[in-house]
Amino acid sequence: MEKKSNHFSGQLGFVLAAAGSAVGVGNLWRFPYLAAKDGGGLFLIIYLILVLTFGFALLTSDIAIGRHTQKSAIGAYTQMRPRWKFLGILTFLVPVLIMTYYAVIGGWITKYAVVYITGQAQAAAADDYFTAFITSSTSPVIFALLFMGVTAFIVYNGVEKGIEKVSKWMMPVLLVLVVVIAVYSLTISHTDASGQLRTGLQGFLYYLTPDLEGLTVQRFLQILLDAMSQLFFSLSVSMGIMITYGSYVKPEVNLNKAINQIEIFDTGVAFLAGAMIIPAVYVFSGTEGMGAGPSLMFISLPKVFSAMGKAGTFVGILFFVTAIFATLSSCISVLESITANCMEIFHTSRKKTVLVLSVIYLAASAVIALGYSIFYVEVKLPNGSVGQLLDIMDYISNSVMMPFIALLSTILIGWVVTPDYVISEMERSGDKFRRKKLYRVMIRFVAPVMMFILFLQSTGILS
Ligand code: PHE
Ligand code: NA
Repeated sequence: MEKKSNHFSGQLGFVLAAAGSAVGVGNLWRFPYLAAKDGGGLFLIIYLILVLTFGFALLTSDIAIGRHTQKSAIGAYTQMRPRWKFLGILTFLVPVLIMTYYAVIGGWITKYAVVYITGQAQAAAADDYFTAFITSSTSPVIFALLFMGVTAFIVYNGVEKGIEKVSKWMMPVLLVLVVVIAVYSLTISHTDASGQLRTGLQGFLYYLTPDLEGLTVQRFLQILLDAMSQLFFSLSVSMGIMITYGSYVKPEVNLNKAINQIEIFDTGVAFLAGAMIIPAVYVFSGTEGMGAGPSLMFISLPKVFSAMGKAGTFVGILFFVTAIFATLSSCISVLESITANCMEIFHTSRKKTVLVLSVIYLAASAVIALGYSIFYVEVKLPNGSVGQLLDIMDYISNSVMMPFIALLSTILIGWVVTPDYVISEMERSGDKFRRKKLYRVMIRFVAPVMMFILFLQSTGILS
């Protein structure tokens, strides 16, 4: 076997890089929305239980497979069972698709950071500001290319000198920023036109309190599915990224600890994102103002920042810088995973591979960035929403492919290669794998069933 020259220097570098992949827009614009929609504390509890069981099993599998095979998705699945190469290819295709639009989102965020830094907080709060921006045929392209370029530059520099080096300062800073903004959110208050006073603390309690009113079996199931799909998107599992990152971990690293830390980091930032966004939205627009996705980040929040007055500019800068860090470290992991697979398939050098991929993805990003102007399309997706190019890519990769891949990989690991394969890798550093039993049950029985239901639901077969 060819020896890998690429490694993380140690546990910390790996954990921060993997956390960098995990912490992304999902934490910032989807987790808070789901928590507010799905009964606050009720969602939090369900999510936490799922992280410790289901998320733990999927993340453990990906990372252990990567370290054991020392390969990325295609090579790893082929090495485990040659007949399952197709699953490796399918897994590889997820980042291939995500990469077409992730830099576009990163570009939007960068644009907003620039807007706040240059003191245009009021302009950004105007009703049609975001629409005017994304439907323009220049600015979104320029910012997407910039974001793509920075991502490529970091990946070009390699695992330790590029990815690890950047993650090691960016992730701690990100953590500090979310804490600062969350604390600030708790201190604000506002009296609206009708004379009603709302405080950040009330908003925080609204976030934490389990809302059990009108809880039916059906609603409970919906919350469960929401939490589950959020979870594996959030942990960057079932897309080969954690297999690639796992393949860079040295044999002496204790994977048990590393995996715990990655889960704590990702879930912690998701929780803190809720603590910074939900109270702020609550104070200035009540419980109705919580949107999700781009509309939360680029329409609702700018209004909240503007309502904060002078402080809003500053909070806006902190927020969008946080979001840049979150998105950049995820974008890096997506490109790295594609790069690593390509290097293995074509036996090319990192530099050459990154250069070729950069050309392809600069072009792809430009096309997707123009999906709201020149290449505008409207497609009705099976989940009922109407989407443009970006949403189509997002839907195929996240709603269709990921649950399907997760389902097949739990079957492969649970029943074909058997859980012992992963368990022995988990104990390779000489440490005991404490949650062995839990892992076995999850990967063989619980996860496949849950993934099957999620797949049916997200493809619209079951609704
Ligand atoms: N895990 C990231 C998040 O929660 C999303 C992501 C998707 C990262 C795909 C990498 C690749 O936002
Ligand atoms: Na995440």
